[in-house]
Amino acid sequence: MSDLDALREDRGNKDRSVASPVPIGVQIANNDGSRPASVVARAFLVGEGMVGGYGKGPSILNGCTISAEKGEIAVIVGPNGAGKSTAMKAIFGMLDLRTGSVRLNGEEITGLSPQARVAKGMAFVPQVRNIFPSMSVEENLEMGAFLRRDDITQTIEQVYGLFPILRDKRRQPAGELSGGQRQQVAVGRALMTRPSVLMLDEPTAGVSPIVMDELFDRILEIARAGITILMVEQNARQALEIADRGYVLVQGANAFTGTGRELLADPQVRKSFLGG
Ligand SMILES: Nc1ncnc2c1ncn2[C@@H]1O[C@H](COP(=O)(O)OP(=O)(O)O)[C@@H](O)[C@H]1O
Ligand SMILES: [Mg+2]
Repeated sequence: MSDLDALREDRGNKDRSVASPVPIGVQIANNDGSRPASVVARAFLVGEGMVGGYGKGPSILNGCTISAEKGEIAVIVGPNGAGKSTAMKAIFGMLDLRTGSVRLNGEEITGLSPQARVAKGMAFVPQVRNIFPSMSVEENLEMGAFLRRDDITQTIEQVYGLFPILRDKRRQPAGELSGGQRQQVAVGRALMTRPSVLMLDEPTAGVSPIVMDELFDRILEIARAGITILMVEQNARQALEIADRGYVLVQGANAFTGTGRELLADPQVRKSFLGG
């Protein structure tokens, strides 16, 4: 059974412990909320001690470490310009690291191109320009499967199962859809490679609270199928509510790390990053 088949089987299952490798309530953390180095090192997806910037410019990432287990939702929050998108690009191979490493399922992938990382099971939905507006919804999904040589019709059906409105609009140019629906196209396109890791940079940017809740529900569903989610979010409070792991990034470094619940309860995090 593919991850996406499992995803459909899991629809409506609200028991988070089914797909979560760490039972809720079990703490794997140091006293400061960070994970012991040995746990980080063994995590399914790890960007460790990342230092890097653009071209010959100054470092934007100053040693941050981000990790997520299989089927976990890890959320990165932090002020504008903190380097959240840059960290995502580094993990996906769009930015060369000066030091640090990226590992997937125990394999060192720091030197791999983004295409090679897609072949290894990573999928990335960037913050901007994440769909082809003049192409139809279905053509966007087909483009997402560009690396596949097998039959993709079943995966398209699975994406339509997750986002039924996209089936109705499959012949429409994606650029004509609402903001929330375009984000569904972008997520659906990323799922077309049947990834083990789905990276989302601000998937709810510019959508209404109702559409945001709906999208978070679908993201939970994807994670329950065993797909690891690494997500950057401006809607920090709502995103941390569904996060197994939360990271507050400030100036390219880890400021706070913990479960979503721990960060939501942390007075300093609340005061500085969640509006009190
Ligand atoms: N393509 C780029 N070239 C040069 N500098 C960039 C580029 N993209 C982002 N930056 C700079 O990197 C810093 C972090 O940006 P970014 O990672 O987009 O932050 P965030 O996603 O947390 O808002 C900012 O100072 C920004 O100006
Ligand atoms: Mg950003």
